[in-house]
Amino acid sequence: MENIDWKNLGFGYKDTDYNIRCYYRNGKWGELEVCSEKHISVHMAATGLHYGQEAFEGLKAFKGKDGKIRIFRLDENAKRLQSSCKGILMPELSVELFTEAVLKAVKLNEKFVPPYESGASLYIRPLLFGTGAQIGVHPADEYLFVVMVMPVGPYFKGGFKANSYAITRKYDRAAPLGTGTYKIGGNYAASLRANKEAHDLGYTSEFYLDAKEKKYIDECGAANFFGIKGNSFITPKSSSVLPSITNKSLQQLAIELGMTVEARNVPVEELTTFEEAGACGTAAVISPIKSIVDVDNDITYFISEEPGKICTRLYEKLRAIQYGDEPDLYGWVTVVE
Ligand code: PLP
Ligand code: COI
Repeated sequence: MENIDWKNLGFGYKDTDYNIRCYYRNGKWGELEVCSEKHISVHMAATGLHYGQEAFEGLKAFKGKDGKIRIFRLDENAKRLQSSCKGILMPELSVELFTEAVLKAVKLNEKFVPPYESGASLYIRPLLFGTGAQIGVHPADEYLFVVMVMPVGPYFKGGFKANSYAITRKYDRAAPLGTGTYKIGGNYAASLRANKEAHDLGYTSEFYLDAKEKKYIDECGAANFFGIKGNSFITPKSSSVLPSITNKSLQQLAIELGMTVEARNVPVEELTTFEEAGACGTAAVISPIKSIVDVDNDITYFISEEPGKICTRLYEKLRAIQYGDEPDLYGWVTVVE
């Protein structure tokens, strides 16, 4: 095996030894197959290629001080994939089969799970898409589910440090009655231009307002938003935002810290009143927000140069549970046996 520089890993694709595949044919899912081939041979008229019948997930496995491997909230990712499948008429996969495939992929690639000291993790990327040929716009009759894994470091260079965001009014990621609540490829395709323009202007990422009125906060690029004001953890309630499992976990931890959770419309002007704010998701856990700039109207909503106290506390607490340094009070962790 190549020598991996665990401490300097970025967030990107890396080859590992095995992936797990499962085919849906004749109205049912087949057996899990172990595969070492990285390519997939698909029909040129597959619906996943033409009509975006494609969903994915993202979750992580962590090596603890005790040498054990822990997977974070596996069942939640399984359920969200089911919801994405329902949303674009793909056959759902049972939580059991999802779990079995993820466990198999992690175990078979055990040597790629970064050591505890590195602070890195194994990113697990399940993917499900229509492979059946179709030229009319209809759901496919055949599908493929794949689980691939790869060791990753921090999503943003520099790890836990505050980042800048540019509000985009030119592009919407998802519509109020669209597909924003599903983790499907089309939403990410829709975000690429906004993301590039934000980057080109020198920001870490783009920042979305609600598509209909452009009044309320939706998401920070490919992550949920939360703000801290006094004793409250405030996060947008929106029909075009992906229900983040990290956000849900942080809400629970905020309650544990004696805070109040408010899930509601968050007007963009309210940004001036937050003492701290963060973007949250599996890849970064929390990425504290330094500034949010309305580039079209030349308004800067400044939050803080350094990660705030509560963001830091929540980040450390969640990481401690993931690595097994703190007890798993809520049953979030699956230990790989
Ligand atoms: N929002 C979007 C658009 C995402 O792609 C992700 C990443 O998965 C999230 C939010 C964060 O979700 P989670 O915490 O489940 O990773
Ligand atoms: C996240 O895990 O927070 C993400 O946004 C994943 C991204 C690579 C799609």
